[in-house]
Amino acid sequence: MNGIISIEGGVPLTGRVRVEGAKNACLPIMAAALLCAGRVTLREIPGLQDVYTMCRVLKALGAQTAYNAAERTLLIESGSRLAAEAPYDLVRQMRASFLVIGPLLARTGRARVSLPGGCAIGIRPIDLHLKGLKALGAEVIIGHGFIETVADKLRGERIYLDFPSVGATENIMMAAALAEGTTVIENAAEEPEVVDLARFINAMGGRVSGAGTDTIRIQGVSSLNCTDYTVIPDRIEAGTFMLSAAITGGLVTVENVIPAHLTPLIAKLKEAGCEVVEEAAQIQVSRAGPIRAIDVKTLPYPGFPTDLQSPMMALLTLATGTSVITETVFENRFMHVNELRRMGAHIKIEGHCAVISGRRKLYGAPVKATDLRAGAALVLAGLAAQDRTDVSAIHHLDRGYWRFTEKLAGLGAKIKRLEQP
Ligand code: EPZ
Repeated sequence: MNGIISIEGGVPLTGRVRVEGAKNACLPIMAAALLCAGRVTLREIPGLQDVYTMCRVLKALGAQTAYNAAERTLLIESGSRLAAEAPYDLVRQMRASFLVIGPLLARTGRARVSLPGGCAIGIRPIDLHLKGLKALGAEVIIGHGFIETVADKLRGERIYLDFPSVGATENIMMAAALAEGTTVIENAAEEPEVVDLARFINAMGGRVSGAGTDTIRIQGVSSLNCTDYTVIPDRIEAGTFMLSAAITGGLVTVENVIPAHLTPLIAKLKEAGCEVVEEAAQIQVSRAGPIRAIDVKTLPYPGFPTDLQSPMMALLTLATGTSVITETVFENRFMHVNELRRMGAHIKIEGHCAVISGRRKLYGAPVKATDLRAGAALVLAGLAAQDRTDVSAIHHLDRGYWRFTEKLAGLGAKIKRLEQP
């Protein structure tokens, strides 16, 4: 559903907001539910567009899904008969659909998935996914926009990832869960969402160890059982709300968080002049003084998350001085810069670096979301800008933020969602 978010900026946000389950944990775990025949219950599942899209992918493969938004509960039942082909249009809509290839191959010995498209932030190759599946014994054929993988039996192997790819680590982990023997993933991604997937597989009777480090060991088992599992909170949604307090000079308590997952952002917000108070499952952010200019470099976890790069840039457009943001994870994740410039930001791109000369003010303007996190950055900028900002193409936001305008309005923002004429 397309629409516009309209914001009257200049209001310091205050209050409490609760974070949902993590989109980037939900999606791989929903795919991993294909590893067991029978019913899986997932909890803390937000009503995100990407969750609905993944449900459609699972249904197209023959699984049953039932989502209860009020209870944030998702039931997935994949019987003994699974189709082996994920529909082209859905995989092109959402890259994360590609995460079904590992579990499908493990369950049925065959998987046919369309080549996932690139997107605004980069070409998003899948060479490391395929390197891992081939190492486990799969035959991989690419043609007519599809990837076909076949394997009579998957056998454990030692696999080195040239880059600690989150998706490749997850696909290989899921395929290896039912392989014969032990698989070792070296230079694995260490993100909390990878750890959550490993915990889910172990809850089904899998034997994954080392998740959260750069070496993950998976001992294959003959079958996995159904389980009832609660996903971790969304550290990127949490960080977005923390930044909403910082950019508006308010005081916001973000609830249902795991502070350890937000260490890089907490450190950077303190460097930028914010007050951050951590408690067991909540973080309070406030700012009384000016925003200090800082440098930020995105890195694979536990480095500063690339998904918070654009929201952080929104904050730094109002810093006293010049900041430099270096994006090392994706090759084209500065699409939000032009839109921030329309609001008066002074940003220069030099290769993988954005040089931000802080300004005293941003000015409301009609801007367009180019991808999920760029949209979040534009909303944050609108919250701090003078006058009105209209953010269009907000279907990007609906992919990763649930009830975003309601939550911000609950913190005092003058924000509303207008349907596109
Ligand atoms: C996951 O994407 C997240 N998505 C992304 O979140 C996140 O930005 C990214 O990890 C990095 O943290 C989900 O978990 C659903 P990668 P993924 O494979 O798995 C290169 C959001 O906004 N690469 O770690 O696709 C790739 O080109 C989204 O919520 C290869 O070269 O990320 C990129 O430069 C955006 N070959 C880098 O690795 C491969 O085979 C990181 O990609 C795979 C990846």
